[in-house]
Amino acid sequence: MIIFYSSSYCKIIRSVFLFSTVTLLGYLLPGCSGKSGDDGQEEETRKKETKALTLIRNDDCLNCHNIEDKSVGPSYMRVAQRYEADFSTVNRLADKIIEGGGGLWGGGQMTEHRFLKKENARKIVRWILSLDDSVANKNPMTTTPGVRLAEAFQAGQPAGKNGLILKAYAMEDLEVSGADALPEIPAHAIPVDSGIIKFIHFTGLEAFEPLQENAMLQATGFITIQKKGKYFVKLVKGGKGRVILNGAIAVNENDWDQENDMDLSPGTYPITIEFLAGPGAKVLSLQWIPPDEEYFRVIPQEVLTISP
Ligand code: HEC
Repeated sequence: MIIFYSSSYCKIIRSVFLFSTVTLLGYLLPGCSGKSGDDGQEEETRKKETKALTLIRNDDCLNCHNIEDKSVGPSYMRVAQRYEADFSTVNRLADKIIEGGGGLWGGGQMTEHRFLKKENARKIVRWILSLDDSVANKNPMTTTPGVRLAEAFQAGQPAGKNGLILKAYAMEDLEVSGADALPEIPAHAIPVDSGIIKFIHFTGLEAFEPLQENAMLQATGFITIQKKGKYFVKLVKGGKGRVILNGAIAVNENDWDQENDMDLSPGTYPITIEFLAGPGAKVLSLQWIPPDEEYFRVIPQEVLTISP
């Protein structure tokens, strides 16, 4: 009776029961979770979901949230659509649930949940984020054509002023400030290679060719903000890298820290992206969610310029 596990069946179950507690039933039925796992893992997944839902139900979450409809707070579906289920997002949302707060979804305030353990908050968040698996399809990592180092270094004069200046520095020319810190580029250092890059979206080993040894990549230029509001800035990076926007650290060099949200007003701001790349470098992608949008996308060429 495979039909019972089809997603339209789940949708009907979800929409017939409009009240959130009952709607939850729809998600507890086998096959109705947001993400379909391997057969072998299904039992395990279901246990985790039941645990997350029990936590949600035993707390006051449903006083202010529904699965699919907006209430005092955003629907969990919208939350899932907005964020990717990566480490820093799960962490940030878990902290937000515990500490409470507002400012991101239009006015309301979430109360604090000091008695909720962090690990349980993380379980809840992972479940919420699993509600939308269409995110995977919109993932800019797979849908946006990448750029290549070789391309940047070969490019002659840029056609316009769009893009960023890209420089590569040899390790021996850098100042190493600590074992774990990103090296600094001294003012007198001369790059071993330079060029213009359209935007920052390197995916896969080939994107970093012809890099033979470790090098520091630095992209500098300006970013133009047209709309005032909250911007989620993210640097998808395999390794150490940072983003400095208008003099402030937007993403820091810790391996695990990838994103930050910033309040920006219209204007043109200096931006610097630095990344420690080696022959094994696999990914570096500068993305954002501008106000009123829901998904991360690669920060496009149109808003990046080599001069203000
Ligand atoms: C008093 C009402 C209220 C309660 C109770 C409540 N929330 Fe919220 N929640 C909100 C509001 C309002 C927002 C939007 C906050 C904002 O705009 O940043 C929100 C936002 C969220 C977000 C998204 C946060 C972000 O930064 O995008 C998550 C996830 C969430 N709530 C989960 C929960 C969970 C889980 C519980 C129960 C443990 C819970 N909420 C209880 C009102 C509430």
